[in-house]
Amino acid sequence: MPVIEQTAFGSKSTLYRLTNANGLQVTVTDFGARIVDILVPVTGEEPRAVSMACATEEDYRAIDTYLGATIVPVAGRISGAQAEIAGERFAFTANEPNRTLHGGIDTANEQIWASQVDEATNSISFSYTLPDGKNGFPGPLHVTARYQLREDNGLVVTYEGRSEKATLFNPTNHVYFNLTGNFQEPVDGHRMTVAGERFATLNEHNLPSGDLVHVAGTGFDFRAGQLFGDGFASSHEQVVAFKGYDHPWLLDDVAEQVRVTSPDDKVRLVVSTNQPSVVIYTYNHGPTPAATFHGGFSMECQGLPDACNQEGFGSIELPAGQTYTSETVYRLEWD
Ligand code: BGC
Repeated sequence: MPVIEQTAFGSKSTLYRLTNANGLQVTVTDFGARIVDILVPVTGEEPRAVSMACATEEDYRAIDTYLGATIVPVAGRISGAQAEIAGERFAFTANEPNRTLHGGIDTANEQIWASQVDEATNSISFSYTLPDGKNGFPGPLHVTARYQLREDNGLVVTYEGRSEKATLFNPTNHVYFNLTGNFQEPVDGHRMTVAGERFATLNEHNLPSGDLVHVAGTGFDFRAGQLFGDGFASSHEQVVAFKGYDHPWLLDDVAEQVRVTSPDDKVRLVVSTNQPSVVIYTYNHGPTPAATFHGGFSMECQGLPDACNQEGFGSIELPAGQTYTSETVYRLEWD
C-alpha cells in the first residue's frame, strides 16, 4: 500500500505526497486544498514538475493564492456582484469593479482546511465550512475536496458541497500546467484537442456576453487538435482582445474531453469531467514571479461562469440540504 508522506509547508500548513507504483507523484496542501506539484517520471530525466507551484504557503500568499487551489463557492466572475437564489436577491463582495471573481476575498483558497488521509484509497480529503454570509453567499456551506492518485495515473479531484441554506455552488480547481516543466517557456508548442463544439464569448468586462458560439472556422476550433501557438496567432477578435484564451468551452459527453501534448510529445495530459464546461486560461497576465506570459494553461472544469445571471447557461443553485458532487480526472501519460 502506498505511503502518504507529510512534511511542513511553511509555518502553518502541511504538504502531503501521493505516489503510485508507476512513480507518478502529486503533492497537495491543506492551504487552500491545493495541488502543488505534479511530478512526472519521464524516462531519462529528473521528474518533470508540470503544475505551476510555489515552495511554501507564504510564497503563495506573496505571488498568487489561486494557483492550484480549490475555488469555491463560485468559480469565475459573477456580473453585477449579485444574483437571485431561490427567488431572493443577494449581493456579493465585488473584488473586481462590479463583479465577484472566484468567490470573493479572504475565502477558502486562503484558509487551512481540515485534512483526512486515507492510505487504502491513496487519497486525501480536505474539508472547510464557508460561514453563512461569507462574501454575501448563503450558508454555512460545507465543502470537501478530495484528491486521489490512481494506478492508471489519474488524479481524481472530487468536490462536494452541502449548504444549510439554498446557495450557489460552482467549484473548480485552478491548477496551471506546462508540460515542458518550464514555466518560463510559453506553451505555444503544446498541442491541445478539445471535444467541444461551442465556446462562450466574453465582453469587455471579462464576463460571458451570453452567446455560445460554434467553434467551426474560428481560432477556438481545437476539435482536431491545434497548437496553442497557432491559436494565439488567430485574428479572431476574442483571441486578440484577451491576448490568448480565457474562455469556457462546452464539453461533449465523451470519455476523453481534453488532451494536451507537450512539444516533445513525451508528456500528455488527458482531462475528463462530469462538469459541463472547461475554462481554459493561458496566463495572459504574465509575466509574474511564477511564470512568463503564456507560461501555463489552466483547465478549470466547472459549470459555465455567471450561470446564475445568464439565460440558458444551466443552474449552479444548490438547494438547502442537498449534496452536489463535481468530479474531474487529470490523467498523465508519459514516455
Ligand atoms: C480567470 C482569469 C483570471 C484568473 C486569475 C481565471 O480563472 O478566467 O480571467 O485572471 O483566473 O487567476
